[in-house]
Amino acid sequence: MWKPRALSVTLALLLLHSLSLAPVSAQSKRSEWKTLTGSPPLVIAHGGFSGIFPDSSYPAYLLAVQTSVPDVAIWCDVQLTKDEVGLCLPDVNLLNSTYILSYFPNKTVSYLVNGESVAGYFSVDYTFKELSDVILTQGVFTRSNLPENNGYLINRVEDILPIVAPQTPGLWLNIQHDAFYTQHKLSMRSYVLSISRKLRVSYISSPEVGFLRSITTRFNPKITKLVFRFLDQGDTDPSTNQTYGSLLKNLTFIKTFASGILVPKGYIWPIDAAGYLQPHTTLVSDAHKAGLEVYASDFANDIVSSFNYSYDPLAEYLQFIDNGDFSVDGVLTDFPITPSEAIDCFAHLGTNATRRDKTLIISKFGASGDYPACTDLAYNNAISDGADVLDCPVQISKDGIPFCLSSIDLLDSTTVAQTRFSDLVTSIPKIKSGRGIFTFKLTWADIKDLTPSILNPFSKFTLFRNPKSKNAGNFLTLSDFLSLSKNQTSLSGVLIIVENAAYLAEKLGLSVTDAVIDALSKAGYDKPGSQKVYIQSTNSSVLLKFKEKTKYELVYKIDETVSDAANAAVEDIKTFASSVVVNKDSVFPRSASFLTTFTKIVPKLQASNLSIFVETFSNEFVSQAWDYFSDPTVEINSFIQETGINGVITDFPKTASRYSKNKCLNLGDKTPPYMQPVKAGDLYKTLDNRTLPPAQAPLPPLTKSEVVEAPLPAVAKLAPASSPAAETKSPPKNAQPKVSVCFFLSSLAVFVASILLL
Ligand SMILES: *[C@@H]1O[C@H](CO)[C@@H](O)[C@H](O)[C@H]1NC(C)=O
Ligand SMILES: *[C@@H]1O[C@H](CO)[C@@H](O)[C@H](O)[C@H]1NC(C)=O
Ligand SMILES: *[C@@H]1O[C@H](CO)[C@@H](O)[C@H](O)[C@H]1NC(C)=O
Ligand SMILES: *[C@@H]1O[C@H](CO)[C@@H](O)[C@H](O)[C@H]1NC(C)=O
Ligand SMILES: *[C@@H]1O[C@H](CO)[C@@H](O)[C@H](O)[C@H]1NC(C)=O
Ligand SMILES: *[C@@H]1O[C@H](CO)[C@@H](O)[C@H](O)[C@H]1NC(C)=O
Ligand SMILES: *[C@@H]1O[C@H](CO)[C@@H](O)[C@H](O)[C@H]1NC(C)=O
Ligand SMILES: *[C@@H]1O[C@H](CO)[C@@H](O)[C@H](O)[C@H]1NC(C)=O
Ligand SMILES: *[C@@H]1O[C@H](CO)[C@@H](O)[C@H](O)[C@H]1NC(C)=O
Ligand SMILES: *[C@@H]1O[C@H](CO)[C@@H](O)[C@H](O)[C@H]1NC(C)=O
Repeated sequence: MWKPRALSVTLALLLLHSLSLAPVSAQSKRSEWKTLTGSPPLVIAHGGFSGIFPDSSYPAYLLAVQTSVPDVAIWCDVQLTKDEVGLCLPDVNLLNSTYILSYFPNKTVSYLVNGESVAGYFSVDYTFKELSDVILTQGVFTRSNLPENNGYLINRVEDILPIVAPQTPGLWLNIQHDAFYTQHKLSMRSYVLSISRKLRVSYISSPEVGFLRSITTRFNPKITKLVFRFLDQGDTDPSTNQTYGSLLKNLTFIKTFASGILVPKGYIWPIDAAGYLQPHTTLVSDAHKAGLEVYASDFANDIVSSFNYSYDPLAEYLQFIDNGDFSVDGVLTDFPITPSEAIDCFAHLGTNATRRDKTLIISKFGASGDYPACTDLAYNNAISDGADVLDCPVQISKDGIPFCLSSIDLLDSTTVAQTRFSDLVTSIPKIKSGRGIFTFKLTWADIKDLTPSILNPFSKFTLFRNPKSKNAGNFLTLSDFLSLSKNQTSLSGVLIIVENAAYLAEKLGLSVTDAVIDALSKAGYDKPGSQKVYIQSTNSSVLLKFKEKTKYELVYKIDETVSDAANAAVEDIKTFASSVVVNKDSVFPRSASFLTTFTKIVPKLQASNLSIFVETFSNEFVSQAWDYFSDPTVEINSFIQETGINGVITDFPKTASRYSKNKCLNLGDKTPPYMQPVKAGDLYKTLDNRTLPPAQAPLPPLTKSEVVEAPLPAVAKLAPASSPAAETKSPPKNAQPKVSVCFFLSSLAVFVASILLL
């Protein structure tokens, strides 16, 4: 157990490099909002920024204020001690949110809470003094527990006043359990009346009708709004013995004692059992007709919602506030930065919004976050989602047809393992460690009939992509791909990826470089005025071959994580490429998934006029450092604003494209805090370094010898039936595959591996 340390305010103040609460510069016009009053919706910070710091802790409240719209409401769940002190703690059972067990061992008790017996620790049994050095925990297991190691103490309601008081509206008190405290001879009513005489309380919510009715005449709704909180429809309000489902049927009744309702978000946009959104209910318009405001609860960037949002939390907020039919009047969230962006920068952009950021948006296997990689569906959606450049990793079939597929191994993105071709599994260490069914083993006629399967790079975290379309779409030859791209005026180019060229030439007699040059020429891409063609490879010999034969833009991919590049390496890259692809960790390395620093790689390469494309920007929060608040828009914004990279490579081009049009770009020092880049290392510095994992050795720089390669071998002339020499027959099914050196550890693999090291 960690000894609590005195919390200094300055500790948490380190968090953002800019504390200036910029005026809301891009605030939309009132009339645009379909809220009850026409004002923008309210952001309600649930226990502060509880997505990062322990719920109800001082830094959680501070961070909420620092990263949100200026009129954020600060939510405190009130619990009462034996001596009638009001604490902010998320749960009536203190086991859930504190380390009380270590302070008072063997003191578990069982009490009835809303008719159910709950075993744990309750504030009614302790005085505030007894609880005053108990520290808070991060109650949600998927979140980092490192911030809590600083030892943040329990706050009384008045303790957060320094943070809340400068804010309007300020404080939102939630009284979840009046009946429980009444059983223990404590009066929430007296407490609430007395605290509201001492400080400004803007909202009081409760799921107990009896409680709100007992105070309704004591509050002026212009100063303090009372909000009735609905729980699950089958749950019962202990003060009326009615279920919330039945209370929902009479909103006129609710209006007699409250000016608004707070409902779980599924009351408004229900989600079916398969995880897809159903049409919205009429709740918001019904409540608005009854004169009630509607606040929606349960928003958190790191808790999976509907597949319709493609793991993009911003998309979900927009669904609630900018759907054409209605807007909710507020959202209760663990991550207040995201609704702040949504309301101020992203709502009401319309379909023809101006592009404000020109960073190139390059697809990763098309829109492969939503559809099987490199299918017509993935590509067409990438185009409609707003990608600038479509990528095609070229593979070659047995009969020499070039086509687009994310990997040379069909096992990665098709269901080939369940077909008659499953016995074509072999091991070719020069191409890939482990076993695979390689594209050059099947003819194109067989490959095009395979069923695509969606990539699930985060399945270890049980995050799966769009199950409804997981086997949809058709594969394309390179020439199909080029004719699909060619007609699209919104595209500025295509990125053709060439790997394994040496192996294919030497062992199989296939020239992938010639196949690509030929297809591009047949499609007219070598004519002036056509879209730009980028040729990408991790092998300089491939790019040199293209340099010799074509005028296409050449892109060198550094397939390892590096922090810098030796001058000689940069000079060498410049002789054959104009752009470089690096992975995210090369730019901002992480420790325990917190950003530690900004490396030299981007400034170094850009000083030599090389463009930098960074991969891979994914929506799933597990792919991002904690610093980005589980919000892919914050990650993209930070990379672009902080480093000035030239392109983002993403499997969710819709998120990047929406970003490029938001209203809060190019505002200079008027940029609101939620659209300022995160500074690498700021959050890390606030952590207790005694509990951090040991510092990692600094990443190596890229050296010239890693860049220089032998020239591509000549294309071998092989008899058609000959079997490649380097190939080894696959081991029997239950034997371990031979451990082999991993030549082609893709950056995605590096990237997933680094998350798994947490
Ligand atoms: C706290 O309570 C929530 C909701 O009941 C539950 O999901 C979570 O697992 C609990 N956390 C802990 C640390 O007990
Ligand atoms: C708590 O109870 C366990 C057995 O239930 C006992 O072994 C332990 O000594 C007790 N601890 C304290 C601090 O009383
Ligand atoms: C609710 O039901 C319980 C148990 O049946 C009963 O004791 C209580 O008086 C009822 N409360 C109200 C407000 O009807
Ligand atoms: C709804 O509540 C209002 C106000 O309390 C009441 O007058 C009305 O009778 C109720 N309607 C129904 C259907 O219960
Ligand atoms: C959610 O996605 C499913 C499947 O694509 C679609 O049928 C449904 O209409 C979508 N729901 C909404 C509300 O857009
Ligand atoms: C958007 O642009 C298209 C094509 O220029 C035009 O037809 C459409 O009316 C525009 N939509 C809006 C909402 O301005
Ligand atoms: C490309 O556009 C032309 C003219 O608009 C059309 O005739 C052709 O069918 C289109 N090709 C494809 C592959 O969509
Ligand atoms: C980069 O390009 C600019 C303008 O094209 C040129 O002035 C400068 O010398 C170049 N720098 C290097 C290091 O090549
Ligand atoms: C840990 O943090 C303290 C206080 O910020 C600092 O003085 C100390 O040097 C740090 N230790 C390490 C190993 O970084
Ligand atoms: C790059 O290609 C050359 C042939 O041009 C080959 O010898 C070398 O092994 C390749 N490098 C890698 C890392 O695959």
